[in-house]
Amino acid sequence: MLEILVPRERRTGEARVAATPETVKKLIKDGATVRVERGAGAGSYFADADYEAAGAQLVERPDWTTADVVLKVGPLADDETPKAGALVIGFLAPYKNLETVRRLVSANVSSFALEQVPRTTRAQSMDALSSQASIGGYKAVLLAALHLPKYFPLLMTAAGTIKPARVVIMGAGVAGLQAIGTARRLGAVVEVSDIRAVVKEQVESLGARFIELPILEASGGEGSGGYAREMGEDFLRRQREIVERHLAAADAAITTALVPGKPAPRLLTTAMVEKMRPGSVVVDLAIEQGGNCELSRADEEVVHQGVHILAPSNLPATMPHDASLLFARNTLALLQYVLKDGAIRLDTEDEIVRGSLLTHDGKVWPPDLAARLSG
Ligand code: NAI
Repeated sequence: MLEILVPRERRTGEARVAATPETVKKLIKDGATVRVERGAGAGSYFADADYEAAGAQLVERPDWTTADVVLKVGPLADDETPKAGALVIGFLAPYKNLETVRRLVSANVSSFALEQVPRTTRAQSMDALSSQASIGGYKAVLLAALHLPKYFPLLMTAAGTIKPARVVIMGAGVAGLQAIGTARRLGAVVEVSDIRAVVKEQVESLGARFIELPILEASGGEGSGGYAREMGEDFLRRQREIVERHLAAADAAITTALVPGKPAPRLLTTAMVEKMRPGSVVVDLAIEQGGNCELSRADEEVVHQGVHILAPSNLPATMPHDASLLFARNTLALLQYVLKDGAIRLDTEDEIVRGSLLTHDGKVWPPDLAARLSG
């Protein structure tokens, strides 16, 4: 019988859990035994008793030597190594944890890095990057609203009218689109900058204004797979000149701009922040990749000439209940995809399996990572 382990996340600030009573129940129905470390769901408000009621066995300490499958949220700690032939699923952050990748290969462990799951229609239910980015976008707007010394919505009061807040959102991928929707629901006037021209229509359908970058027409900002491509310094300088005018009139800026495999583009320089109004707020969601704002410091609040700059590195973990609900469903979908008659079958010819594999069969699967590790 397949044994699945759900350990408690040990990374500081990580309140999420990789399986919930809902997903445990489904795994047990599929014929698995599920062992949940006592307290694993506490940070996200899933009680031990609910896991037990769903059919899980609670364990005091996770036993990594017997589990066939380990479900994780974040990367593996140094003392967390599954047995040979086991499968581990999670945001394994392989490029930042090269030693872990080496360890998994030498221990002959198979692993799926959730950040690699292909962004295709077929794999949508397994796309944890999207479910968590969306939470980040939502929470970033709430953070900005909390820090602003003023209202978000237009208000007509007996004491007169309050103008709505103006929010500039940079990068309209999954996080940015959710940020737009949230800021609009709170009544702000929203302007958006992105380098992929296809985004314009989505932005406008959410009731926001797209900041035109005339320079885009010639160059085009779309790379492979629907993602942005890296733009040259000359382009970024001209983009900054255009966006600067909008920022000077804004109350908040939410930055979410990323280019796969590259450091985050520098969109807000110190000089631009200095042109923003005192009391305004920047929330930089790109900090894990170095940040979009020059002044951002991970998980610190920087105040520069009256502008508050926040760069939270793990916002989804600050909304751990719903973040875990969605994350656990994504993980379940991926696991069920490779579960055939109660056993794991990894068909490496399958696009989703091949794309998501980090290690398997004693090797590293992403070609660029394999090259880096052998070089
Ligand atoms: P991401 O996190 O890599 O990037 C965020 C945004 O930053 C992107 O919209 C990108 O164009 C923008 N950006 C990059 N450089 C910029 C610059 N200099 N200025 C302003 N903006 C800049 O992207 P994310 O959120 O992971 O998704 C991007 C796209 O991938 C989606 O819009 C969609 O087309 C596609 N996707 C498809 C899915 C599916 O089919 N299942 C699921 C999720 C995403």
